[in-house]
Amino acid sequence: MIARTPPHLLGIAGMTQAEIVDLLDLAEGYVDVNRAPVKTSDLLTGRTVINLFFESSTRTRTSFELAGKRLGADVINMEVDWSAIKKGETLIDTAMTLNAMHPDVLIVRAPDSGAAKLLSEKVNCSVVNAGDGSHEHPTQALLDALTIRRRTGRLAGLRVAICGDIAHSRVARSNIHLLRTLGADVRVIAPPTLLPSGIETLGVTPFVDMRAGLEACDIVMMLRLQTERMRGSYVPSIREYFRFYGLDYAKLASAKPDALIMHPGPMNRGVEIDSEVADDIDRSVIREQVEMGVAVRMGVLDALTRPVLEGAA
Ligand code: CP
Repeated sequence: MIARTPPHLLGIAGMTQAEIVDLLDLAEGYVDVNRAPVKTSDLLTGRTVINLFFESSTRTRTSFELAGKRLGADVINMEVDWSAIKKGETLIDTAMTLNAMHPDVLIVRAPDSGAAKLLSEKVNCSVVNAGDGSHEHPTQALLDALTIRRRTGRLAGLRVAICGDIAHSRVARSNIHLLRTLGADVRVIAPPTLLPSGIETLGVTPFVDMRAGLEACDIVMMLRLQTERMRGSYVPSIREYFRFYGLDYAKLASAKPDALIMHPGPMNRGVEIDSEVADDIDRSVIREQVEMGVAVRMGVLDALTRPVLEGAA
């Protein structure tokens, strides 16, 4: 998938184990760069990266901006609320307009599944899917994998529970593809209303009982209720949801004693996760996930622009 011209990163599905590991290894090299007092390089000098976000974002947009700037690229953040989209211009026309300005990479977040792929077929620059509806969020899965790998030294053989709103989660889908490809045992835990039928075909084991699902897990990955994608009511009440599916120390006791707690953010404390658990400095790696996000996005920009740079040499 990365190997097309121009190369894109549209999803984890279809990527090989080697392609994923290569990206993780590349990102790993940027972790120390980001911790150094001077973080900038000239790798992407003269290159242009455009952030085109049709949905809100704190982590993904900021880290792509930082990643591009630290690599020396010119980074433009399209302000959708102040763009011609407000005058009725479509997503495709917007992308083609930006494409005419010769960017090298377009980072796209959109509410519709398949939007990034559609745009990649219309433009002649690289496209990165920064989240398309409930379909995929590939850089989130990569940063989650990098966080886990740095903490445990491996992904193969780990038992990972992904808990919460599986039905609407692009984070869940990308993580399932990545973790299964790298040999992890993946469980999904959700109320029946938020567990898509046929999810087993992705190679995961579904649970509706959270304690049973968390049994002997190495990693507990919590998800937000994606209310913006819901039509109607999926849970009886927030209080009821937290009682059965909110991560607290009582439920966490079913997992391994050293199980890591993850959350892609944004978190809704007291809904899917108890505040104390989220802030547990011994178990929670939520801030580390954010840190790894910059390294992963530097690795992705590096990988996507590399063949062009080599071809031009
Ligand atoms: N995890 C994630 O995609 O966060 P943002 O919506 O803040 O980018």
